[in-house]
Amino acid sequence: MDESLVEKIIAEVRASRKYRELDLPGNLLRQILTEQTAKGGSSAEITAAFRRKLHNIVAPYLEDIDYPTESEAMRSFFETNPTISEQKAWAAGVMSKHASTRERLPHLDEFCGKLRKIIGSPGTVLDLACALDPLMLLWLDLPAEVNFFAYDIHKPRLEFLSQFFALKYPSARAIHQDILGEPPEIEADCAFFFKEAHRFEKRQSGCNDAFFSAVRAPLLLVSLPAADLSGHHSLVDYHTQLIDKACAGRGWGIEQDQVGNELLFIIRKGSSR
Ligand SMILES: C[S@@+](CC[C@H](N)C(=O)[O-])C[C@H]1O[C@@H](n2cnc3c(N)ncnc32)[C@H](O)[C@@H]1O
Repeated sequence: MDESLVEKIIAEVRASRKYRELDLPGNLLRQILTEQTAKGGSSAEITAAFRRKLHNIVAPYLEDIDYPTESEAMRSFFETNPTISEQKAWAAGVMSKHASTRERLPHLDEFCGKLRKIIGSPGTVLDLACALDPLMLLWLDLPAEVNFFAYDIHKPRLEFLSQFFALKYPSARAIHQDILGEPPEIEADCAFFFKEAHRFEKRQSGCNDAFFSAVRAPLLLVSLPAADLSGHHSLVDYHTQLIDKACAGRGWGIEQDQVGNELLFIIRKGSSR
């Protein structure tokens, strides 16, 4: 496809009402468009396929949170020197506004208790495709100086998280990056990759294999839903196979656990590569 047409299609998507607030990473848009172009078709068909694919990646987890307003409220709230239980109540309120973190709320104490036992006291943690996961730091009870690197493609959400970090975790960073196209270079003690591996698989079949390998942490914690949204169909076998396939032939240790509707895979790579 002609470069000027590529630029035009990307610029139109960026300016659209649906996406303009998000400021999606340019290389994410370009990679999806290149992939659709390789499949062939007229430019109208390629554009439609590109928009469909982007919708599948981004839209299911768009929510109605007004992040600038939420950030303002957070700053005022922290000025009151809230207790830790008040901070948790505030964070749970924010998490309840996002579909993925809302599902975990009834089991949050158990989930974070398990995580903390597994990870111990790491100096550096990666949170890959984080959404509002970093608010769980209040439950994980890690030292305030932890180097916590949270990655997402949703800019306003990351700006909100940056302000949260500035208030509570001065060494933590919120990073705007397509982690599939550009896996993080930072070396860490452990990495979280919660409730996104199945969607990565839809974006690019088989991609988790190279992605898990590229993450520079000896301990990788991956979670996936145990049942579909209706709760009627178990996804345990399907998602266990997804993880087994992604780890096949590497000699990594895999343990499995479950908290609520969340399957937790504890992948011990033994080295950071
Ligand atoms: C299903 S939510 C999972 C969020 C969170 N980890 C949790 O457990 O609640 C998916 C998140 O991944 C982000 N995301 C999707 N693709 C991504 C990519 N390629 N790079 C970085 N973040 C991505 C989305 O913006 C969204 O916030």
